[in-house]
Amino acid sequence: MQLGIDASRIHRRIHVLAAIGADPTGGITRPFGSEADLVAREALRQEIVAAGLNYRVDAAGNQWGILPGRDSHTKLLVVGSHLDTVPHGGAYDGAAGVLVSLEAIQTLHETGYRNHHPLAVVAFTGEEPNSFGLSTLGSRLYTGRLSAADLLEHHSASGEPLQDALVRVGGDLRSCDTLNPSEVAVFIEPHVEQSGRLDDANLPIGVVDRITGIYRDHVTLTGEQNHAGTTRMGDRKDALDAFADAISLFETLLQMPWADWMVGTIGQVQVYPNAINIVPSRVDFIVELRSTDLEQLHAGAQRYHQQLTAHMSQRHIALSVDNILDQAPETLSPAVRNLLVQQVRAHHLTPLTVASWAGHDATHMTRVAPTGMLFIRSIHGKSHCPDEYSRPEDLAVAADILHDTMKHLDQVLEEVAPDVASL
Ligand code: GLV
Ligand code: MN
Ligand code: MN
Repeated sequence: MQLGIDASRIHRRIHVLAAIGADPTGGITRPFGSEADLVAREALRQEIVAAGLNYRVDAAGNQWGILPGRDSHTKLLVVGSHLDTVPHGGAYDGAAGVLVSLEAIQTLHETGYRNHHPLAVVAFTGEEPNSFGLSTLGSRLYTGRLSAADLLEHHSASGEPLQDALVRVGGDLRSCDTLNPSEVAVFIEPHVEQSGRLDDANLPIGVVDRITGIYRDHVTLTGEQNHAGTTRMGDRKDALDAFADAISLFETLLQMPWADWMVGTIGQVQVYPNAINIVPSRVDFIVELRSTDLEQLHAGAQRYHQQLTAHMSQRHIALSVDNILDQAPETLSPAVRNLLVQQVRAHHLTPLTVASWAGHDATHMTRVAPTGMLFIRSIHGKSHCPDEYSRPEDLAVAADILHDTMKHLDQVLEEVAPDVASL
């Protein structure tokens, strides 16, 4: 282990962030734009400044800590992840990656390493789904995959303009033309695995080769509101009964052999008017499918749509389907992956290569720079829940590997190659 990596510093910072947005009903609730998001951002700003890095916030509200390079190189070596959480989430998803990244750069700085390239830690805005219906908001704005101009009139479910929330965190949709993703030479996102493969294999670190695609539809089933006592069973158009059918169709679809490489979830549902003595008139829900194979993802979505249409028509329930996300799987840079594999081996560890079934900002960064991901063991593979946990020593190993990888990239890109893709 490198002398400088300080496991207790990472651990302390994890605990500082874990207290922000701690939900009295369990876990951490720190969505984009919330009071907790603002407090967590301020805590990160203070840590970045204390680490001796230059602090900036870009127009997408992404937070940056930069250690300037010592010569003419302007392209950044960027590492980082996100700070926002899901409702009742854990302390490691996103935050661990930001803090491991900060530790790697701070250690390079403290041990007197004279970097050629500017080294940057980034915390992207709003990676998780939020009330604006826009996950990976900061990385999608940064990489141009979302158009800021198209979002000027965009509101949250409760009617708050996106621009107001973005201004609150230091961004501004009107200035997004200042975002410059071509400044990035390479991006590496360290992240907790959120699955149990590393834990099962008793390995602390993995290297990611591919990130899942994600497809989400907002579905509305509309029946007829009526009296729960007086409406005869044969006369009902009960939207919640129809929803039960919709769930069971979904489960059957995902159990079919051809759907082997797919997972699906219906995790968000609203029933109207949601009263004891009224036949439900409407159900809104989000169907999510994930696959590392784009064809399978689309075939699954199409089959479900066809079956839902047939079943709802039999029940005389109106169906409306609105696609809200169609994100293709992405393959990460083989050059960055090979380098990470070498660095894991150099730490006398077996580099297990895995696909990520969670979405990440790295998905979008692949479009602008060679991108890689380092996974850190999640104990019992738990995530998006309060029990999420990764050991301090595993986080420290990840920081050490990242530290060595950044140093290597800084030197090799200086000596032999204009960009990482040609390594
Ligand atoms: C992000 O956490 C996702 O995979 O939904
Ligand atoms: Mn997450
Ligand atoms: Mn995450």
